[in-house]
Amino acid sequence: MAPIPHPYTTSIAFDRRLYKQDIAGSKAHARMLGRQGIILAGEVEAICGGLDAIEAEIESGEFAFREELEDIHMNVETRLAELIGEAAGRLHTARSRNDQVALDVRMFVRDAIDEIVLGLRGFQSGVLSQAEANVDAIMPGYTHLQRAQPVLVAHHMLAYFEMAQRDIERLRDCRKRMNVLPLGAGALAGVTYEIDREFVARELGFDSVARNSMDAVSDRDFLVEFHAAAALTMMHLSRLAEELIIWTSEEFGFAKLAPEYTTGSSIMPQKRNPDVAELARGKTGRVYGNLMAILTMLKGLPLAYNKDMQEDKEGLFDTVDTLNTTLHAFAGMIETMTVNRDRTRAAAEEGVYSGILATDLADYLVTKGVPFREAHGATKALVAYAGEKNTGLDTLSLGEYRRFSELFGEDVFEITVESSLGARGSEGGTAPERVREALAEAQEIMRSTGD
Ligand code: ARG
Repeated sequence: MAPIPHPYTTSIAFDRRLYKQDIAGSKAHARMLGRQGIILAGEVEAICGGLDAIEAEIESGEFAFREELEDIHMNVETRLAELIGEAAGRLHTARSRNDQVALDVRMFVRDAIDEIVLGLRGFQSGVLSQAEANVDAIMPGYTHLQRAQPVLVAHHMLAYFEMAQRDIERLRDCRKRMNVLPLGAGALAGVTYEIDREFVARELGFDSVARNSMDAVSDRDFLVEFHAAAALTMMHLSRLAEELIIWTSEEFGFAKLAPEYTTGSSIMPQKRNPDVAELARGKTGRVYGNLMAILTMLKGLPLAYNKDMQEDKEGLFDTVDTLNTTLHAFAGMIETMTVNRDRTRAAAEEGVYSGILATDLADYLVTKGVPFREAHGATKALVAYAGEKNTGLDTLSLGEYRRFSELFGEDVFEITVESSLGARGSEGGTAPERVREALAEAQEIMRSTGD
């Protein structure tokens, strides 16, 4: 090729990262060719020995990657020829780089998913330890970032446990669907040899073989699914990041991050910036970008393989790395964070002044027989009255309460932040005994997964 197009078309700068998968795939392929009598047993042995040597060279940093050889597949094969001679030329029998690269990428994503799931488990364990440490800490729950109703800090934390659990399930689902062997599709139409794809599938841990050779070499759906699952996970982490940024602000003061997860400012000595959380929020953008890139790259491609598909790799590696490092940082950041329960509790109590127990007042009237809509109206008017008077709901007299409903009695003063929490004992609610149950369930999930 001409000097400018050549480096333009190569992928070795990034696809060298697939060396392990490439070598494992080649070894399985060679063994299959040997079993089927397509190549000789001695050749299989030489090929596998050579491939092991190449893997060791790459891992020790001795391997000389050559750009003119385009990609990882040609780099490995060329080196194999240098090491073992003629037998190397038999490895690519009944195979094309099209089904080879489809195999490598699937194997890479499979491994990546396993690692990310572990990262998510670590994150869940951080969330769980915060929930355990704050099982009776009270905070205001928010909607529209306005104080809404009191909740337990543990309840808030466990919401993130659920998100991570769905993220894990999504990734596993994606892994299941993608765990289909593309090798044996050849360039696109199948091959002329008596190959045994089931054997290769078993050797490499695939559940089945791809049914259609053209689909096998051109399908990157599994990447789109993976990117989508990754984007969702980052979105969850980014929401938590945003909350931590708010919580650790001086205005809120709900939590403090360990110094390892914050940085100082070069000019303002008092600063403890939540950089890790901010970066996670920021990096979510690139993970979304990678999802859009793969979707867009694929949308106009005719069957079967097209060189455009080489563009699937950098975004993939970037997303995998971003997710792994973010999850790792989050596990530690959450685990080491301290919640200021006096402050969260005080915020809930301050909320009483402005109406955080208003729903409970409405529910109170409902227990006295008032239809909820009417009770809601009366309580709303009561809150407005207190607002106008510039006093808190907690300082109104019974007489004032009674202006809005005759059914208010002395016992209305028994409504507190605690009673409000305790009353929300519906399944999945924030009542302390419910949260304890939820905590036990989450611990059970952690114990039983075996990840
Ligand atoms: N480097 C290529 C890729 O990543 C490998 C497949 C090459 N196939 C081909 N027909 N040029 O997609």
